[in-house]
Amino acid sequence: MKEQVNFGRFLHGGDYNPEQWLDYPEILEKDIEYFKKAHINTVSVGIFSWSMLEPEEGNYDFDWLENIIDNLYKNGISVFLATPTGARPKWMADKYPEVLRVEADRHRNLFGGRHNHCYTSPVFREKTRQMNKRLAEKFGKHPGVLLWHISNELGGDCHCPLCQAAFREWLREKYGTIENLNKQWCTTFWSHRYGSFEEIESPSPRGEMALHALNLDWKRFVTKQTLEFLEIEKAAIAEGGSDKPVTVNLMYDFKGLDYKKFRDAVDIISWDNYPTWHKREEWRTALDAGIQHDLMRSIQKRPFLLMESCPSATNWQSVSKLKRPGMLKAASLQAVAHGSDSVLYFQIRQSQGASEKFHGAVIDHYGGDDTRVFGEVTELGETLVKLAEVTGSNTKAKAAVLYDRENYWAMTDAQGPRNKDLKYLSCVKKQYEALRRLGLDVDIISMEHDISEYKIVAAPMAYMFLNDYEKRIADYVEGGGTLVMTYWSGVVDESDRCYLGGTPHGLMDVLGLRSTELDALYEWDENGLEVCGENVLGLAGKYSSKYYCDLVKLNGAKALFTYTDDFYQGMPAVTCNVYGSGKAYYIATDAEKAFYEDFYKSIVKEAEIPLLFESLPEGVEVTSRENDKAEYIFVQNFARKPVEVKFPEGYVNMIGSMDEVMSPLETKVLKKTK
Ligand code: GLA
Ligand code: ZN
Repeated sequence: MKEQVNFGRFLHGGDYNPEQWLDYPEILEKDIEYFKKAHINTVSVGIFSWSMLEPEEGNYDFDWLENIIDNLYKNGISVFLATPTGARPKWMADKYPEVLRVEADRHRNLFGGRHNHCYTSPVFREKTRQMNKRLAEKFGKHPGVLLWHISNELGGDCHCPLCQAAFREWLREKYGTIENLNKQWCTTFWSHRYGSFEEIESPSPRGEMALHALNLDWKRFVTKQTLEFLEIEKAAIAEGGSDKPVTVNLMYDFKGLDYKKFRDAVDIISWDNYPTWHKREEWRTALDAGIQHDLMRSIQKRPFLLMESCPSATNWQSVSKLKRPGMLKAASLQAVAHGSDSVLYFQIRQSQGASEKFHGAVIDHYGGDDTRVFGEVTELGETLVKLAEVTGSNTKAKAAVLYDRENYWAMTDAQGPRNKDLKYLSCVKKQYEALRRLGLDVDIISMEHDISEYKIVAAPMAYMFLNDYEKRIADYVEGGGTLVMTYWSGVVDESDRCYLGGTPHGLMDVLGLRSTELDALYEWDENGLEVCGENVLGLAGKYSSKYYCDLVKLNGAKALFTYTDDFYQGMPAVTCNVYGSGKAYYIATDAEKAFYEDFYKSIVKEAEIPLLFESLPEGVEVTSRENDKAEYIFVQNFARKPVEVKFPEGYVNMIGSMDEVMSPLETKVLKKTK
């Protein structure tokens, strides 16, 4: 990873498409005036501008962009300069059909939409190289350009012959011989053995879909091929002489790519956040957004950028509700609280036509600055100025929850105990929420992350173990860490082959048990947990549980709770094992929320993690960042009513009073100098 990028101030602004307004110089002029007024200091330009930058093949026109960038810079506004590969011009698709994507059913798409391209196509790679190199030559050293915004929301796969060939090549490198691949993929099943790498085809609804290892490797290949394309984009920028940092904007819980692999590919992680606020209590939505912010921060374990968010309502959600007064500020500061060094919007000026004409914008079709939204954007801009010193500060979480994309892929395909709704993310969230309710920062990590620094690691539904994960977990516990593992863990290896000899693979010693059978429950079924003997955690009472019940055989672990019902009534449901200087807990079922709250409260105490707040009312979120000079505690009230919070001593609110009654959507940023 390259050095951390720190802009020294919060970047405020967003996606800006001046190319849509070149015929209206008065509008472009007005924009500058509005930017200054709203403390907008950074805009992303060029995101979908290919047909304006190269209107005909080989005929480049960068003059309009130069005027725009120069003018913005003159007025104190920086830019993120995008490479235009998010969409490409019609002439390219017509002349070189190979640039168009082929779907899994093997049909080649027509021109249209965006990201409709083949990332393997030599033509598309070369056209991209030419474009990026020229952009870098022209603007790569411009003082107004802060960062390269590569493409836009990378995603999707292509099944064309070029991609098939690249896939086979990648498999050949990975497996060496076809015999080895057959073995790893278990192709003897249903007589699906391959005679050579040439015979392999990507998964298709018209063909092979049942070979799990093929599906998994295809998804891995798609991530690898997307990253390869990203490297081509970066190399062309470098070739053009620019060494400015790069980012790509990632998406909410995106299932198509393995984002952990982006760690070293970009200088700073950025993502686009569009929560559906106001559909139920705000704190539930905040929790959902919070976990994604934490996931993004945890990829590099340093600040990220909020690249897009909506200033009012989107136009693509099933119901596009307006952000209620105060929501913009609370949602934006939530991103900052979780580690963002920016608040950027889609879009700055609302487009006049096409598919996003009704998407919320800082400046709408009316065109004035006397709108509610503009007012709220301006107020937030002022707040971000006050908070400038917070940029670059980091979050040092003592607890982490595992949420791994490859694990998700393998589990979704598994055809195991539950096919309808795995409840994976919801299980992850239960651990996360319980830790957050205590006011703790939480990292959301993959199996590649180093875990040695955490006091508590929760690895819920860690079905697939990658790269000797079990060994790293065992070392972690032995060295004094606290592990929380659940049902359906350590079941398959990296090639999706079931481990023989008992599960959780490699951790039966560490956990002091073996999982013998996993029961799946219908939606309406319920079991329960009953405290067992003298509970070492001091927990008491009963909790209900659903969806999964793992029947474990103890071999050293102590039962803390047993099942209340069914033929396994009285069998262990929550256990604890001491291993080395650490402890390994096993939660064998999906318990109700209250259980996790009580359970984590106890183990956090046991792990001696200090808490800043004695208790937090429901709906209040606490997050922290720190640098050499100070600690910053963000306290946000996402409840729909005023709440009382007792603040720790020695802090001052950087953006308002220390009044302990917090109104709905209020944020306090408590600072303590070191
Ligand atoms: C995505 C895209 C933007 C825009 C917004 C609309 O995040 O990156 O170009 O389409 O959605 O919400
Ligand atoms: Zn292709």
